[in-house]
Amino acid sequence: MSLYSLIASCIGYVLVCLLVFLLIAFLCYCLYIKYIHMKFDHIPGPPRDSFFLGQSQTILRAMSDGRVLHDKFLEWSETYGPVYRLNNLHFVMLCITCPDTTKEILMSPKYPKDKLVYKRLFNLFGIRFLGNGLVTSQDHEQWYKQRRIMDPAFSSLYLQSQVGTFNERADKLMDKLATVADTSTTVSMQHMFNCVTLDVITKVAFGVDLNLLNDSDTPFPKAIEMCLKGMVHYLRDVTFQLYPKNWKFIGKVKESAELLRTTGKLWIDERNMAIRNGDDVPKDVLAQILKSASSEEKVGNDDEELMLDNFVTFFIAGQETTANQLAFAVMELGRLPEILAKAKQEVDDVIGMKQEISSADLGNMTYLSQVLKETLRLYPTAPGTSRYISDDITINGIRIPGGFTGIFNSYVCGRMAAFFDDPLKFDPERFHPDAAKPYYCYYPFSLGPRSCLGQNFAQIEAKLVMAKLLQRFDFSLLPGQSFDVLDTGSLRPKSGVMCKIRHRGNTPSG
Ligand code: HEM
Repeated sequence: MSLYSLIASCIGYVLVCLLVFLLIAFLCYCLYIKYIHMKFDHIPGPPRDSFFLGQSQTILRAMSDGRVLHDKFLEWSETYGPVYRLNNLHFVMLCITCPDTTKEILMSPKYPKDKLVYKRLFNLFGIRFLGNGLVTSQDHEQWYKQRRIMDPAFSSLYLQSQVGTFNERADKLMDKLATVADTSTTVSMQHMFNCVTLDVITKVAFGVDLNLLNDSDTPFPKAIEMCLKGMVHYLRDVTFQLYPKNWKFIGKVKESAELLRTTGKLWIDERNMAIRNGDDVPKDVLAQILKSASSEEKVGNDDEELMLDNFVTFFIAGQETTANQLAFAVMELGRLPEILAKAKQEVDDVIGMKQEISSADLGNMTYLSQVLKETLRLYPTAPGTSRYISDDITINGIRIPGGFTGIFNSYVCGRMAAFFDDPLKFDPERFHPDAAKPYYCYYPFSLGPRSCLGQNFAQIEAKLVMAKLLQRFDFSLLPGQSFDVLDTGSLRPKSGVMCKIRHRGNTPSG
């Protein structure tokens, strides 16, 4: 009896101590949050819905209303000015549209990518995903080493040597469209562009033929789509995994992430085999990825994982972004006949009936560039970036203590009347070569050292595909497609940009 009561009172004592400890820890944490609020509350911002979760309720409500979340951020930027504050637990995020601060922070290598978002993408629901690859790497040295190795595969010189492959893949899309042109078939241009951008990246970057336009059953594109969907839930809602109703979906996302990595491993092994056999191999992105490992003394497990991180990174960063840009461009051209006519005229003047578009032709289609730039102003398909700022800084006269995440949103800047007159009007003249350049308020490819590595790649690809489309086809949008935006983290058209296609009567040759 006495032994039993001794054990029971010990357990009781331990439990009380634990409870008191937890209570004290909780109170300390509350005090810490209060301290953070006091430290940053002089910065304007929307009222907090709750002490702990800050403005999260309002953000979740905006998302569930089917609105584009970025429109809420735009509304807040217009209400609270060039820097405003959001809170969540002890984290402080400052949304910055001040051009001088955008320049100061994004152009400097001193401010690392913010851990809150980028570290989280190391895994996707527990499966290694973007790891320490180029987009997510937060350590400057580790990132710089990779970027230096990858740069040659994205140099203008190398990409110009690949224009033939870009042409060949774009022609496959035109052949596919020719089969449905002048029929009653409605085509999802977004789907078509998704296939062609994936075909291009697998061929130009990895030397592999997927031929997706004719083989829609390939699991690889579905896996990419699934991962992109999974990423949104994973990033936006930390409780997503707790609900059993989501487990089936999460299972599929995990399988998809694994498929991307196993495909990467297969392609890397095949290329290594080709090198060992003395075959002629291209100097493409895959070659650079392999170089990143062979620059070390021996290829260890970590190097192999890093190679796979970058393999997945290129597909996630480089495919849907360009496909959605093309789809949004078609959506806008479909509703603006005058701009469409001008773009077609330029294509006819520069390439006429030519089949093979050269780098020089691409350079001569300046109006088409303006159209594509304007598309990314209204629909930046990768709408922002963030940095961790540890030093005190001053933004627009407000002294800001260090220790916060700076959020830079190119959707918000691109739609602010302070930067662009009549901002919701689609007007390619804003990007006329003689027009004043936007000052650090237009950055669809981000800015500075961590700007998009694939910018040249994407621009060649988008222009070439669009030029061939305008050369050969007329298209009419199904009603209800305009301003039809789904916000999945990246922006994508909601209803797929459904079109009817007609031949223009131009059959290119030579
Ligand atoms: C219209 C098409 C594209 C847009 C709008 C776009 C936009 C962006 C943006 C905004 C970033 C910065 C992301 C961040 O800070 O979190 C980025 C980074 C990156 N993008 Fe793109 N991108 C496009 C196409 C591509 C393509 C085609 C590739 C590859 C073939 C690519 C590869 C990358 C890589 C590797 C990075 C990380 C760069 C680094 O930190 O060193 N992107 N892109």
